[in-house]
Amino acid sequence: MTAVIETIADLRAACDEARGAGRRVGLVPTMGYLHAGHRSLIRAARETTDFVVVTIFVNPLQFAPGEDLDRYPRDLEGDVRACEEEGADVVFAAPVAEMYPKPPKTRVSVADLTADLCGRARPTHFDGVTTVVAKLLSIVGPCTAFFGRKDAQQLAVVRRMVDDLSMPVDVVGCPLVREADGLALSSRNAYLSHDQREAATVLFESLRAAADAVAGGERDAATVAEMLRGSIAARDGVEIDYAEVRDAAEMTTLDRIEGEVLLAVAARLGETRLIDNVRLTVRGDTVTADLGTGFRPDGRE
Ligand code: PAJ
Repeated sequence: MTAVIETIADLRAACDEARGAGRRVGLVPTMGYLHAGHRSLIRAARETTDFVVVTIFVNPLQFAPGEDLDRYPRDLEGDVRACEEEGADVVFAAPVAEMYPKPPKTRVSVADLTADLCGRARPTHFDGVTTVVAKLLSIVGPCTAFFGRKDAQQLAVVRRMVDDLSMPVDVVGCPLVREADGLALSSRNAYLSHDQREAATVLFESLRAAADAVAGGERDAATVAEMLRGSIAARDGVEIDYAEVRDAAEMTTLDRIEGEVLLAVAARLGETRLIDNVRLTVRGDTVTADLGTGFRPDGRE
C-alpha cells in the first residue's frame, strides 16, 4: 500500500522512521501528471532503495507570471494509482499552503549553470527548482534522489547544489524515456494539438541526425548546432528557443566536440515549450550516443 502524506511533519517522521529501521530512502521529486518517464524513476528508486517517496507538487516558485502554472495538468488520483503500481511507499502531496505557509524570502540559487539555455528564457525558473528541491531534501533527509536526464540542465544544477552545500544526498540521473516515435515524454505534451504533436517529432529527429553526424566524424560544435537549427527551423509551427552543443556537466560552450557533450534543444509549438537532448560521449574516434529509451528504432540501431 502506498501512503499519501500531506504534511511536512508526517513526511519527515516517516523518513526518519524508515532510516531508523535501516532502510535506504529513495526520493523521486515530481510535479505530477505522471507518465512513463516518471514511472521509470520510481522503478529505479524501487530497485536500489528500500523506502520510496514520490513527491507531487506543482511548485509555484518555478513558474514566472504568465507561464502555465494555472493550467499545468493535474491528476492526483491517477498519480497515486501509478505510484501504487510502481511500488512507491509514500506519495507526498502537500498543498501550497503546507509547503509555503508564507511567501518564502529564501532562494537557493546556483550561479552560471543556470544563466543560459532554459535559464535564458526562464530567468527565475531554476531558483524556483533549487529552492523547492533543497526544501524537499531538507524534509526527507539523507537519501538517494532520482532525476531524469530529460531535464539535463536541471540535473546538472541539482547535482551542483547538492555538492556545493554538502547535502547528504546521492543524486542519480536516469535515462530519458520517449514515445515510440521519439518524442520525449513530458506532462506538457498534453497541451499539443494533433498537428503540433506530429511536428514535435522534429526535435528528436534533429538531435538524432546531429548525433549521427558526430558519429560520422563531425567535431565542429558550431556546424552541429547549425544542423540542429536548420532541421528544426524547416518544420512549420516549430519556433526554436535554442539549439546548442554544450559541455554536459558545466553547460559551457565548446569549439570542438570531445568528452561528455550535450546536444540540447528547446522549441515552442504555439504556447507550449518543449525541451529535448541527446548526450554524447566522444573519445577520439569513438562516439556513444545516449538517445534514451522507449522509442522504436527505425532500423538504424
Ligand atoms: P517534472 O517535470 O514532473 O519531472 C519530474 C522528474 O521526472 C524530473 O527529474 C524529470 O527529469 C523526470 N522526467 C520527466 N520527463 C521524463 C522523461 N521523458 N524521461 C525521463 N525522466 C523524465 O522536473 C520537475 O518536475 C520539477 O522541476 C521538480 C524537479 C519536481 C521540482 O519542482
